[in-house]
Amino acid sequence: MKIGFLGGGQVGQALWEVIQKENENILNLLGEPLEIKKVLVRNLSKPRIIPNYYLTNKPEEILDDYEIKLVIEVMGGEEPAYSFIKRAIENKKYVVTANKEIIAIHGDELLKLARKKGVDLGFEASVGGGIPIIKAIKEGLVLDKIKEIWSILNGTTNYILTNMEENKAEFSSILQEAQEKGYAEPDPYKDISGLDSVYKIAILSSLAFHTTIKPKDIFREGIEKITLRDIEYAKSLGYSIKLLALAKEENGALEIRVHPTMIPQNHLLSAVRGVNNAILFKEERRGNIILYGPGAGPKPTAMALLSDILELSYSILHSHPRYYNFAYLYPSDLKPWGEIKTRYYLRFWVQDRPGVLAQIAKILGENNISIASVIQKETNIENEKAEIVILTHITYEKNIQKAISEIQKLPILVEWNSLIRIEV
Ligand code: NAP
Ligand code: HSE
Repeated sequence: MKIGFLGGGQVGQALWEVIQKENENILNLLGEPLEIKKVLVRNLSKPRIIPNYYLTNKPEEILDDYEIKLVIEVMGGEEPAYSFIKRAIENKKYVVTANKEIIAIHGDELLKLARKKGVDLGFEASVGGGIPIIKAIKEGLVLDKIKEIWSILNGTTNYILTNMEENKAEFSSILQEAQEKGYAEPDPYKDISGLDSVYKIAILSSLAFHTTIKPKDIFREGIEKITLRDIEYAKSLGYSIKLLALAKEENGALEIRVHPTMIPQNHLLSAVRGVNNAILFKEERRGNIILYGPGAGPKPTAMALLSDILELSYSILHSHPRYYNFAYLYPSDLKPWGEIKTRYYLRFWVQDRPGVLAQIAKILGENNISIASVIQKETNIENEKAEIVILTHITYEKNIQKAISEIQKLPILVEWNSLIRIEV
């Protein structure tokens, strides 16, 4: 069966390689081999493992070729990838993609179009790298009542945070390492800013809660402001800092958020190190289920693509499309951001003189925020400033935001540093 790739970069080349290596097994599974007819790239003269003969810079050589039944999109970004996928589906081609941005933003529309055209769209590789998470949620957990998803969905940021924690490494040098290993997005801002995790949790929540979650409605904070000092404080208090993607359902209302989070060092997700990802489902009847594995990297991603390619090729060869999708059924009811409740870590510098802590405590008390612990390390008296770290009990986000804006107006505040949410 003839297939075409849109993209021949890190992931495209790993997929090329694995299809060559596995073609005998593929033949045994499908009854015919997969034949890669063309690979779309931008730069025809860039060195790559794919022979030049297969390369093209003309999308129509794939999108309008009636012999190509299945298109694999591994270009990245919203445009022109979205228009190419749409055109392929309109031309009645099956599509497999690793592009979470497109599935998160346009998945509902593209899946409806695919159904109308009698084809299918696979997106296993869009979330969790090599972890078979989409099949797990669509099939293994089908009809389960998922109440919460706690997840680490970005390999690059987990790799950076782990190296900061374990080796006190500097942010920029580790990001470069993650790029060299092929973990980062073509635009690494999407990793660091939490956008990539937002796309992924939008996809998982749409499937888990049978609704349509759009990335723009998800609260997002990235890891740009996380410092070695916060990581050290977290460690000394018995916590790790992770970029968590959280989704919780309570009486029909959803809360979905991506932000750096302090979790206890003995929490299951705290053990997720380096490029690995993990997804913990809290389910009403089964209890807790966790899936763990490499969350990025060309080879694991190629394997996730290959599993979709085999499933969809089987459908094509046996005229048997399988519309097995519980996403996008109901409207979503998202909690307003101020109504979420959690614990908080606050760090800031104040003038070191009598009555200062009392002023802070008064503001927190007036906003109904209860203090769980306070740290003020002794500093040289000549410094005339002191660093305060406060951990709160559970409170509303709207209360903490109001308290912080009041603290920031106090004349005794020298420097505001950090707010990190705590989940236990
Ligand atoms: P990449 O190395 O930058 O590769 C992108 C490929 O697409 C390149 O071959 C590039 O051509 C081609 N391309 C981009 N824009 C094009 C255009 N307008 N016209 C023609 N060709 C174009 O990216 P990647 O790391 O392989 O990632 C690809 C996709 O996989 C992304 O959606 C990413 O989110 C997803 N993904 C990646 C990973 C990972 O670990 N890397 C994991 C899961 C999912 P040139 O080579 O000529 O520049
Ligand atoms: N850049 C992404 C990550 C690739 O680091 O998780 C996998 O989707």
